[in-house]
Amino acid sequence: MNVMGHGRKAASLAAAAILAIGGVAGCAKEDTGGTTESGVKLVKTGALTTCTHLPYAPFQSKDQSGKVVGFDVALIDLVATKLGVTQEIVDTPFEGIKSGSDLNAGKCDVAAAGMTITDERKKVLDFSDPYFDATQALAVLTGKEVKTLEELVGKRLGVQGGTTGEEYINTQVKEKNLKIEVVSYKDLAALQQALATNQVVAAVNDLPVWNEYIKANPGKVVVATGFDTGEQYGFAVKKGNAELLKNVNEALAASRTDGTYDKIYATWIGEKPAA
Ligand code: ARG
Repeated sequence: MNVMGHGRKAASLAAAAILAIGGVAGCAKEDTGGTTESGVKLVKTGALTTCTHLPYAPFQSKDQSGKVVGFDVALIDLVATKLGVTQEIVDTPFEGIKSGSDLNAGKCDVAAAGMTITDERKKVLDFSDPYFDATQALAVLTGKEVKTLEELVGKRLGVQGGTTGEEYINTQVKEKNLKIEVVSYKDLAALQQALATNQVVAAVNDLPVWNEYIKANPGKVVVATGFDTGEQYGFAVKKGNAELLKNVNEALAASRTDGTYDKIYATWIGEKPAA
């Protein structure tokens, strides 16, 4: 009897605990997304959730207070404002961004990662209109100037994993049959660190990213040569998310006409190249 009594009490306590936990977890989990007043579905209520891969200054990086800021962040803020929500940023490896798996899994609504529009990526992502032009550049430590890839034969060249820069270099190395040791780093910070500490003789990444690094670390590295890959960045949404894509493109277009784009460009990139 006593035992049973205890058993029952324990069981009902346990049930209450489960209910309580379930309730709490339910609250957090049951955010199956929100819909803006204009009818755009979002993965989280009240937020435009952005996937990015940090750091990638000047497009996205943490400021001293730990806040994620940059050119892409400022542009996506315009989309969030248009939707009447606030932007929330998720830092996640580039691989999951460019493969579409993060967007497909509902990790975020939009990807903004200084990401180049490519035919391969177009198969798994829907890109916005282009918002930035970029090329690749080879950076070396000051005083160690190299002008061609050929000069790197027998040496180590750093690239960033999963990027167009890595792909460009691998293609060049193969086509020209250059015996260069290409070393792939998981993010920009690791690549720049490798260059700064002589782990690699040179490093390839998008030109604006090197320009930013040089601004932040004057005298340390120089751009030895550029590769005119003619890239364009696009924001991406999950395949078929036409409603959100439309809003992204409209916000971009509006920023171009009302001068906001130019202001954001001046803040994060600097002087606009002559057209
Ligand atoms: N533009 C290059 C690409 O699309 C590099 C992008 C890397 N971006 C980043 N946030 N880590 O491959």
